[in-house]
Amino acid sequence: MLKTILITGAGTGIGKDSAFALAQRGHRVLATTQTDAQADALTLEASAKKINLEIFKLDISSEADRQRIEPYAIDVLINNAGMGESGSLAEVDMQIVRKIFEVNLFSTLELTQVALKGMIERQKGTVLFVSSIAGRIPMPFLMPYSMSKFALSAAGAGLRAEMDQLKKNIHIALIEPGAIHTGFNQAMTDSKYAWMARSSYFSHQAEKMKKQEHATFRFLEAKSTQGIVNQIVKATEATRPQLRYTSPWIQGFGVRLARIFGV
Ligand SMILES: NC(=O)c1ccc[n+]([C@@H]2O[C@H](COP(=O)([O-])OP(=O)(O)OC[C@H]3O[C@@H](n4cnc5c(N)ncnc54)[C@H](OP(=O)(O)O)[C@@H]3O)[C@@H](O)[C@H]2O)c1
Repeated sequence: MLKTILITGAGTGIGKDSAFALAQRGHRVLATTQTDAQADALTLEASAKKINLEIFKLDISSEADRQRIEPYAIDVLINNAGMGESGSLAEVDMQIVRKIFEVNLFSTLELTQVALKGMIERQKGTVLFVSSIAGRIPMPFLMPYSMSKFALSAAGAGLRAEMDQLKKNIHIALIEPGAIHTGFNQAMTDSKYAWMARSSYFSHQAEKMKKQEHATFRFLEAKSTQGIVNQIVKATEATRPQLRYTSPWIQGFGVRLARIFGV
């Protein structure tokens, strides 16, 4: 059955590729971007590819932008927008941690509440939260991001149970990608070095750390978004989506093992 789908952070990466894939399957896709410039670029790319998207700016941290989704009868909301920040919890500025929680958790939930209002009235809908496997096991030096995704995965699982009790045919699922090459991980890991260069307990090993992080992601990252896009399509089209969708599966499996062994 064809659906009306709204996806956030669709100007780049996983969000953009998911928007294209869902539109190519015949769904009506409202592809939203953080900025007007991204909306213009996406409009050009979609028209060059002859893919039909309805594109507009939606900065999820803007109350006015969030209200713009109210008139749409959204069947599936895909909360894909997110940001990354890194640094040791021993010293990272809490404003950085507050900012990432503001975007990845609070703004995501505020947008979800706007969408849920219509879904509950219409007695149908699905909300997907694009969290991360970093929301399943703590990631040293990525904790500002990891904590925000732990909170998001917990929020999604809790909201799912609440919506089950409401019995209004509202489904909630978590998309938990492993490392995927979109540029996101490099920007996130590098975000800390500007302030670490000024002052850090770890200054003496910063260069080595940076090289190791880049090497780790070069090794771990899936080169294409296809696997996670397939999972997003599956969750979007499911009548009753399961709680969690992960890709690459081997990373999801590794995380489950790590949790069994108490990491
Ligand atoms: N790539 C991975 O390895 C990986 C792994 C696990 C989870 N994820 C999650 O997957 C999602 C997509 O990430 P990606 O890899 O595709 O990276 P990406 O290309 O950077 O996508 C994130 C998108 O969210 C947008 N965004 C940030 N803040 C926003 C806001 N306030 N309002 C609206 N949009 C906003 C970004 O816009 P700007 O470009 O303007 O910042 C960007 O377009 C994120 O939630 C990320 O946490 C990614």
